[in-house]
Amino acid sequence: MSEKATIEISGKKYDFPLIIGTENEVAIDISNLRSTTDSVITMDPGYKNTGSCESAITFLDGEQGILRYRGYSIEELADKASFLEVAYLLIFGELPTKEQLDKFHSDIKAQSVVDDDVRKIVDAFPKSAHPMGVIASLTSALTAFNPSSVNVDSEEAMYKAIVKILGKFPVLVAWTFRKKNGLPLDYGDKNLGYIENILKMMFKQPNEEYIFNPIVVDALDKLLILHADHEQNCSTSTVRITGSSHVGLFASLSTGISALWGPLHGGANQAVLEMLEAIDQDGGDTEKYMAKAKDKADPFRLMGFGHRVYKSFDPRARIIKKAADSVLEDLGVEDPILEIAKGLEKEALKDPYFVDRKLYPNVDFYSGIIYRAMGIPTDMFTVMFALGRLPGWIAQWREMRLKKEPIGRPRQIYVGKTLRPFVPIDKR
Ligand code: SDX
Repeated sequence: MSEKATIEISGKKYDFPLIIGTENEVAIDISNLRSTTDSVITMDPGYKNTGSCESAITFLDGEQGILRYRGYSIEELADKASFLEVAYLLIFGELPTKEQLDKFHSDIKAQSVVDDDVRKIVDAFPKSAHPMGVIASLTSALTAFNPSSVNVDSEEAMYKAIVKILGKFPVLVAWTFRKKNGLPLDYGDKNLGYIENILKMMFKQPNEEYIFNPIVVDALDKLLILHADHEQNCSTSTVRITGSSHVGLFASLSTGISALWGPLHGGANQAVLEMLEAIDQDGGDTEKYMAKAKDKADPFRLMGFGHRVYKSFDPRARIIKKAADSVLEDLGVEDPILEIAKGLEKEALKDPYFVDRKLYPNVDFYSGIIYRAMGIPTDMFTVMFALGRLPGWIAQWREMRLKKEPIGRPRQIYVGKTLRPFVPIDKR
């Protein structure tokens, strides 16, 4: 392959170098485009064809349905690693030794107490507040209680901010959940594993001992691994561009949480369950909803289907679908919603509208069914997505800061009014 791209503009040719990745992906490096041409820029709404960075964290191939974290396949990691191991791998680039993992976990546990005044912020929210709005606010509020974690430059300062948020975020998730359910706020237990502690903080009833179900512990661990990173998706790009202004880690994460909330992104897992429940209440009439999804006049989309990058099965959806079967069976849960989901998938995968557009189930299509079987309410599904994505956001923010990448500031093409004189109000 030639090492350059040539663009011809108004009869003049300009050469630009190519960037070739370790998986042989190719990009045209246009970082000097505007300065070498007569201020010409590119246009790419939604950045469907635009790379924002060179990253060594996650590789995905949408055509082949491949997803790897730091070179390890998602299938192997979901099957053999723990979520905390995967968090360490994403953030620091290597699978940890036992000693490294133990130290990482103990550093996190040392930071798992949240300032009691944060309760006043939690109490200020109405019980009707959507948990994503609450958790985004609480994450940003952490900056106020941990000022030293703002604008961290050194790797050591970054590490301190990282273990702080990995320790405190699960507490904020549990407080957000318990507040909505009228339960006293719990601080968890430093003697427990990372996943066990999350479950106990969320679900322990004040008047009884919390009994762990190993099936639920394993299912949550796997789900969080599957959600941990996904290269430059909407929320990760938001964390990167926010962090590029050198605001602190917590504030950057808070913007990512808000971006994830959208139903086109992480909010889809809640929208999927609401859609499946609507179909169930509608007598299981999947045909009607398929027709709605294909009707251009109808804003309805088949939630949990389609993906900006995957034009074949989302490998995470394949793993979650398999896990849904086994978790529901092990928990002895009969959920008609799972059968509706499978029926919808079967119909869509042979319908020309979906086949022609390469619309397959994505990570959000089955995850809610498992969360529901685990007793997690629908409006908490996207918070669980954020809990899983946290190490990925951190890893991407850290990579951007360590590489000292410039502040993100896209250009535009102005299409508004050209210069015109002011008109006094009595003449308008
Ligand atoms: C996540 O980017 C990531 O990596 C995200 C994520 C991660 O881990 O971070 O994987 C997590 O966000 C998964 C996606 C969850 N969202 C949904 O399930 C919502 C439903 N899906 C769609 O809204 C849509 O598929 C997107 C948003 C996911 C992708 O949209 P694109 O890439 O902008 O594609 P598009 O909207 O241009 O659609 C192309 C065509 C259009 O039809 P035509 O104009 O060509 O006729 O496909 C149609 C769309 O109308 N289409 C759908 C559809 N998704 C796309 N039609 C019906 N139902 C759908 N779900």
